[in-house]
Amino acid sequence: MATTPLRSHTCNALNRSHVGQSVRLAGWVNSCRDLGGLVFIDLRDREGVTQLFLDPAVSADLMPAVRRIREEFVIYVEGVVQARPDNMVNRDRATGEIEVEVKSLTILNSARPMPFNLEDPAVGEDLRLKYRYLDMRRSGLVANLRLRHRITKITRDALDDQGFVEVETPILSKSTPEGARDYLVPSRVHPGSFYALPQAPQQYKQLLMVGGLERYFQIARCFRDEDLRADRQPEFTQIDLEMSFVDVDDIIAVVEDMIARVMKGVHGLEVPLPFLRLPYAEAMDRYGSDKPDTRFAMELVQLGDCVATSEFRVFQETLAGGGVVKAICAKGQGAASRKQIDAWTETAKLFGAKGLAWMKLADEGLTGGISKFLSPAEQQAVIAKLGAESGDLILIVADQTKVANAALGRLRLDIANAAGMIPEGLFNFLWVVDFPLLDFDEETGRYVAVHHPFTRPHDADLGKLATDPGAVRAKAYDVVLNGVELGGGSIRIHEADLQQQMFAALGISAEEAQLRFGHLLEAFSFGAPPHGGLAIGLDRFAMLLIGAPSIRDVIAFPKTAKASCLMTDSPSTVDQSQLDELCIASTADEADAE
Ligand code: AMO
Ligand code: AMP
Repeated sequence: MATTPLRSHTCNALNRSHVGQSVRLAGWVNSCRDLGGLVFIDLRDREGVTQLFLDPAVSADLMPAVRRIREEFVIYVEGVVQARPDNMVNRDRATGEIEVEVKSLTILNSARPMPFNLEDPAVGEDLRLKYRYLDMRRSGLVANLRLRHRITKITRDALDDQGFVEVETPILSKSTPEGARDYLVPSRVHPGSFYALPQAPQQYKQLLMVGGLERYFQIARCFRDEDLRADRQPEFTQIDLEMSFVDVDDIIAVVEDMIARVMKGVHGLEVPLPFLRLPYAEAMDRYGSDKPDTRFAMELVQLGDCVATSEFRVFQETLAGGGVVKAICAKGQGAASRKQIDAWTETAKLFGAKGLAWMKLADEGLTGGISKFLSPAEQQAVIAKLGAESGDLILIVADQTKVANAALGRLRLDIANAAGMIPEGLFNFLWVVDFPLLDFDEETGRYVAVHHPFTRPHDADLGKLATDPGAVRAKAYDVVLNGVELGGGSIRIHEADLQQQMFAALGISAEEAQLRFGHLLEAFSFGAPPHGGLAIGLDRFAMLLIGAPSIRDVIAFPKTAKASCLMTDSPSTVDQSQLDELCIASTADEADAE
């Protein structure tokens, strides 16, 4: 950092080479210790901490100011760098070899006592969020924000190098079909009409392609009114991009290059390219998830051919009914208690499984659970198929494929986490490709777009759109990091007739399509180029690179799980006059009463 009148150095800069130099430092008081003979002050700024000292006998004139100093006062000092005696060197600190003898000291600002001990990790998150600006001082949040800045900086450079143009798109916009609930903004000028905050810049970026921009990106703020979890916020940021005249491989190559540059720049890591590509069907079959965590094995295995004729009726009946019998082999979990297995059974049931069958492999063979229902030959087949060893636990679900995958996919993660099977420090990137285009919604009896209605079907599957919509694969891809969906995108439909077929498959009438997407369909009728894109969740990316447990740890001013900001106390009520101007009457009291 450049020097200023208040600073010749930061609080992390001084070392033995500066001994004897006069310096100017400014920052916050971390601590002030009066040890009788000497006073020590730890001075902190964004970069680090420097120890200051003064001898009251020598610097009596400074003592009135020193006695006023409390934690988090802001001070300015001039002093001389001194080497610390060898036995006083602090190896944990970049400035641990020196200290600064204070020659003059100015209090720039005082501070009231802190509402909580800034260094106490036990302080609840609500209090930290209320005083986010104080928590920021010592919690490591500044370091996280700086790393996040590195990611965006490298991203901008990487995309600029590839010919992308950064364009801002409207925040006051029209509802986009991303699938979550919209945040609405009432229009004063058009009473009764609303803007929607963008769930993503999806339509705008496609329109930019129609406009001939060819390569767009944006570090884009998105808004989704959905139930929040550890990796979801109501407003979040995407690294959003779109390209013309490309197919899946081109987009994947751009994104892999960008991610590799981020990993290199942030962590000094060379990630192997290209990333593994798993077709959706394979990801579901082997990991029971469309965002598989491949840092550990414990894959889902089909046992149908091993147990088709077993005495365990559930297996026979499930297979006969078109279902599957699938299992995971939990290494070294043979000592799991009945209580633990019961808890896992409850987890499986949450996903619709009717039960969880289990067996343990001991030196003498399979024991416990359903082992007695299997013949010696069936037991051998199961052991061989799973590669099970003595001490392992086998967990089995017999059900429809969807249920078995979901239940075992979750148990696989729970068990690996609980047993510490997931190696630290790994960054396993992969692509899940060939998602299904449509999903059948049992409730409405209609097909819905898995991604969004502009996602392009696989060329080879076009014929099935009318006859077997559920079997059509999409040119859609997700990039997954350590079991988290980092980003997703697709090649789009750019021809009007194919778009009509898609709407027909979704049961959207021509009138409805016109009403919701008319502007887009019209634009596509004027020579839209083939195009596609993707968006990466920047917050999630930063969270995973930092190894932070929550997305809130990489956002300066996040919302709570209830979507409120404790610091500014929002959302809040507004003046009646504001509502009147917008022609809005609140029914909140009635809603509360219900
Ligand atoms: P999608 O809806 O998959 O795609 O979003 C892309 C990525 O954004 C991140 N993300 C979120 N992060 C934090 N909080 C949330 N509530 C949240 N929701 C999504 C995820 C996700 O992978 N327009 C398309 C992209 C495209 O097709 O080009 C889109 O928004 O990391
Ligand atoms: P039950 O005969 O219902 O007492 O079940 C015996 C064992 O089989 C219990 O451990 C159940 O959890 C388990 N089980 C029941 N149904 C299934 C199923 N569909 N898949 C796997 N295990 C099951």
